Amino acid sequence: MNIPAAARAQAQDLLDFIAASPSPWHAVRECERRLQAAGFSRREESERWTLTPGSRHYTVRDGASLIAFSVGAEAAAGLTLIGAHTDSPGLRLKPKPAEVAGGMLRLGVEVYGSPLLATFADRDLALAGRVTVRAGDGFESHLVHCEQPLLRLPNLAIHMNREVNEAGLKFNKQTELPLLLGVAADGANAEARLRQPLADRLGVDPADLLTWELVACDTQKGCFWGVDGEFIAASQLDNLASCHAALTALLAAPPAVSPSSGTRLIALFDHEEVGSESAAGAGGSFVADVVARLAASAGLDAEDQRRMLAQSFFISADMAHAWHPNFPAAYEPGHHVLVNGGPVIKSNANQRYSTTAASAARFMSFCARAGIPCQQYTHRTDLGCGSTIGPIVAARLGLASVDIGSPLWAMHSLRESAGVLDHAYLIAALTEAFTGQGGAAAR
Ligand code: CO
Repeated sequence: MNIPAAARAQAQDLLDFIAASPSPWHAVRECERRLQAAGFSRREESERWTLTPGSRHYTVRDGASLIAFSVGAEAAAGLTLIGAHTDSPGLRLKPKPAEVAGGMLRLGVEVYGSPLLATFADRDLALAGRVTVRAGDGFESHLVHCEQPLLRLPNLAIHMNREVNEAGLKFNKQTELPLLLGVAADGANAEARLRQPLADRLGVDPADLLTWELVACDTQKGCFWGVDGEFIAASQLDNLASCHAALTALLAAPPAVSPSSGTRLIALFDHEEVGSESAAGAGGSFVADVVARLAASAGLDAEDQRRMLAQSFFISADMAHAWHPNFPAAYEPGHHVLVNGGPVIKSNANQRYSTTAASAARFMSFCARAGIPCQQYTHRTDLGCGSTIGPIVAARLGLASVDIGSPLWAMHSLRESAGVLDHAYLIAALTEAFTGQGGAAAR
């Protein structure tokens, strides 16, 4: 299969983005870095905002949710919004995780969201996230990433787990998931052994580390695979691939200054994998607050704000279940979506996805104008369907919405895989939605 150089470069840029984003807080910092390099300026939620047409800004709520926008010349023309999530399921350290068990030092973890737990076994794990450090009478928040292999969840040998290949690899979440950190030293404080590498990374006194939110992250970098290098594998493709595509589309769009151009906005939320019900999550007020400030800045009254929302369109971008030839029984026979077959429109009559016939047709028209294929997915009727931020944001704002995303294998594995062409297609479709110029990006 021929992979154009431009598509390969976009996939490589995604792998670089993921390498810089071992935690949702790092993902937002990497988005910030790219936004600032492109001339977007940060606005604090605690300040008064004055937003002029053509200006480009972003704001961050609680470190792991970010909204960036390019202010349109015609506010009442409505917004084009693209949403995705920054968090991924996995293992997170408990507040006091260190314990000694039979002479070994291990760290207790909580399960965040719904990871494929077996994929965390026998991998070279590290730690990333944010910590608070004492500063005078108060504290400062810092990001930290210990990049060397630090932790491991060794499997039990097959000689002690004879049924594993028939019964599946199972871990008791309380007793069998703690991650090994080292050999317990006589008389040494177990927690001090965890604090030392974190303090070393930050250049602070270990005693000044107050609290942490740390994820067990993979140390293996993403890669291309397949006979023609037509696939990529990495951690957190769900949903950093959609964050990267949305950000890339926004950065590629020129400032929205033509008289008819509406506002373009991307909303990257934390906490999707645990239900979105938080101050910074899609179920919170974040996106509604930013939209209200955009309307107020443009001088829209309450009537015009509602006219604006009635003319707005939300694209919820999250990964879709790619057809896996080894497991045909898992799929709805009429809705196989193929890796490298183009973005997927996801539909569910029970509104687990926000797609309607009209919003699906609208997204199809973006793909058609960009000159790329697109596919349609629905889950098997006898299997429970996942959900996304699509229905949540659509309900909060009361606007037209579609759920789409790139095909993905092994959703919620520590190492997921997807198609190189699909990522370029997704960027092209989202660029088309923002500017009507996605065709150029696809070629
Ligand atoms: Co997702």
